[in-house]
Amino acid sequence: MEKFMFNSKLLLNFKLISNYKMTLRTNMLFLCCLAFMIALGSCKKSSTTNASENTTMKTYDPHSYALPSEAVMTHLNWTADIDFEKKIIQGVARISIHASEDAKKIMLDTKGLEIDKVTVGLDESPTEFSLAPAQEPLGSALEVEIQPGTKIINIYYKTSPGAEALQWLSPVQTAGGKHPFLFTQSQAILARSWIPLQDSPGIRFTYEATVTVPASLLALMSAENPQKKNSDGVYNFTMKQPIPAYLMALAVGDLEFEPIGPRTGVYAEPEVIEKAAYEFAEVDKMLEAAEALYGAYQWERYDLLVLPPSFPFGGMENPRLTFATPTILAGDRSLTSLVAHELAHSWSGNLVTNATWNDFWLNEGFTVYFENRIMEEVFGPSYSEMLASLAMQDLKSEVEEMKKGGNAADTRLKLDLKGRNPDDGVTSIAYDKGYFFLRTLEEKVGRERFDRFLAGYFKANAFKTMTTEDFIDYTNDSLFTKNNIPIDSTLYEQWIYGEGLPAQLPMVSSARFEQVDSVMGLWQAGKPAKSLNTTNWSTHEWLHFIRQLPDQMNVQKMRELDEAFGFTLSGNTEILTAWFTKAIRNKYTPTYKALEDFLVEVGRRKFLVPLYGEMIKTDAGRKMALTIYKKARPNYHFVAVNTLDDMLSYNP
Ligand code: BES
Ligand code: ZN
Repeated sequence: MEKFMFNSKLLLNFKLISNYKMTLRTNMLFLCCLAFMIALGSCKKSSTTNASENTTMKTYDPHSYALPSEAVMTHLNWTADIDFEKKIIQGVARISIHASEDAKKIMLDTKGLEIDKVTVGLDESPTEFSLAPAQEPLGSALEVEIQPGTKIINIYYKTSPGAEALQWLSPVQTAGGKHPFLFTQSQAILARSWIPLQDSPGIRFTYEATVTVPASLLALMSAENPQKKNSDGVYNFTMKQPIPAYLMALAVGDLEFEPIGPRTGVYAEPEVIEKAAYEFAEVDKMLEAAEALYGAYQWERYDLLVLPPSFPFGGMENPRLTFATPTILAGDRSLTSLVAHELAHSWSGNLVTNATWNDFWLNEGFTVYFENRIMEEVFGPSYSEMLASLAMQDLKSEVEEMKKGGNAADTRLKLDLKGRNPDDGVTSIAYDKGYFFLRTLEEKVGRERFDRFLAGYFKANAFKTMTTEDFIDYTNDSLFTKNNIPIDSTLYEQWIYGEGLPAQLPMVSSARFEQVDSVMGLWQAGKPAKSLNTTNWSTHEWLHFIRQLPDQMNVQKMRELDEAFGFTLSGNTEILTAWFTKAIRNKYTPTYKALEDFLVEVGRRKFLVPLYGEMIKTDAGRKMALTIYKKARPNYHFVAVNTLDDMLSYNP
């Protein structure tokens, strides 16, 4: 997952001692609140009503201007023209709404959109609307006047060339080099920069779309998709299951389809398609394993789309069509736990959705747990325990860094992101602390009970929204009370509302990593690298090996390893990133050219942050970072640029 520790600025003034006192006070407060919440019980659930029947929005979302108790959207009919010359989308969003009887307006989210006209009804009667001044990071509220009985509003609009969700690539930024490319990244709150809508994870809607693109290109969405190009460049889409706005997605490019199994396949540029189909061949096994664990797949098809290397994430779980970075095409299927992860989101996230970004761990922690179970099923426990062990290392080091950066409050699973960018919550906490919390629950009740509980959780809450407090209620009822196990609220206190890590963590032990540790011991005792026994090591063993290398190494030691194992020339982006990090730290200049090439080509934030982060630790490194960044920045998506500008104090 993505990691970046630069939001500590705000908190730097807090002294450790006051943090400690605050923690004590917060804990006391928490205990009182918890007692109160338990006393209130289900009364909390029924106390708010909603304008919509098909959403379960009952929570205030600090990252949306929508007022769902007045009016919510239930369906989107989107018509759009994709203009590669002007780098804009010109569109009409026809939004079906459900409003309370006395509602006089509906509030939508927009960011950087130019609104040309708004009408209501099928007959397109004129109506009043106003666009509020923009605020960071939310954008501008769009208020549209409605009458009793208004069922539909029609918004005619254009995106801005800088629309934050969109990345417009020129042909040189693609594998083929001949055609332009466009893709979107809507999570967390960027859907509003390309469609006016209610951009809150608690509001779900179905959609249909008609998208016009240049005739040489194929368009794909998070919907039912075409499998080949047509001659007029007009594509129709339907998504009949209700989804939240952050799962809206579009990609346009010179794309081909290759089937993998009966329900699965991959889209990619022609230059990449064979490699991609080889890499993802195990996806059907993963899908079957997932269904056997937690219930039938609800989205009919599961396809993957391989994007150009500037895609800012490893993967994005757009329903029916996972978007994936080409940096996982290692050639040996060794990085496909990412596919298991995005596939798992078809249950955790897309079916049962975090109500707000403060509950982000419900999406990601569940997904890491589920991903690990899929990997265990398909590749065995010795494989999945390597993943768990790497996750534990990540988690421990991130918690330490966050504490050091004065950012301890964000080490809680339940976040408080009001007034901040939800991106601040994308840390190892939601992913790995979330994962180890669920693993703790599993260990407490036993795997059989826990699996039954999870299958029930996905079934009972399908197409609904979940807050952390809903989760606690559900767990108390369906995991503990149902199984006659006493409720242990200290678990919630420590894991969900407490800072840092509980004293008692799940035991993770990887025999394969222990073997790596002993090889490392031999090398450190003087055995030459070339004569070490590394046969059958997978990417994960190599990653563990590189991570365990001593912090300080001289150039001879680095060269010895590089000559023995060819790290600098590795085609594996995870290994490269781990190695480059050590190379920067130890000023091992023979890798610098490869490092620069990598940073100019790849825009995946998970790699960029540790590499630039390592460089800026010294003055000379900072200079190098800025030189490379100036060159590479035009190839990065907004979400990476937004992170790195801040990290490097870069003023464009
Ligand atoms: N949904 C996330 C990506 C995301 C999170 C985008 C928050 C925007 C805001 C996706 O499922 C994810 O977690 N991707 C990881 C891969 C994974 C294997 C941990 C990534 O991109 O590194
Ligand atoms: Zn995820």
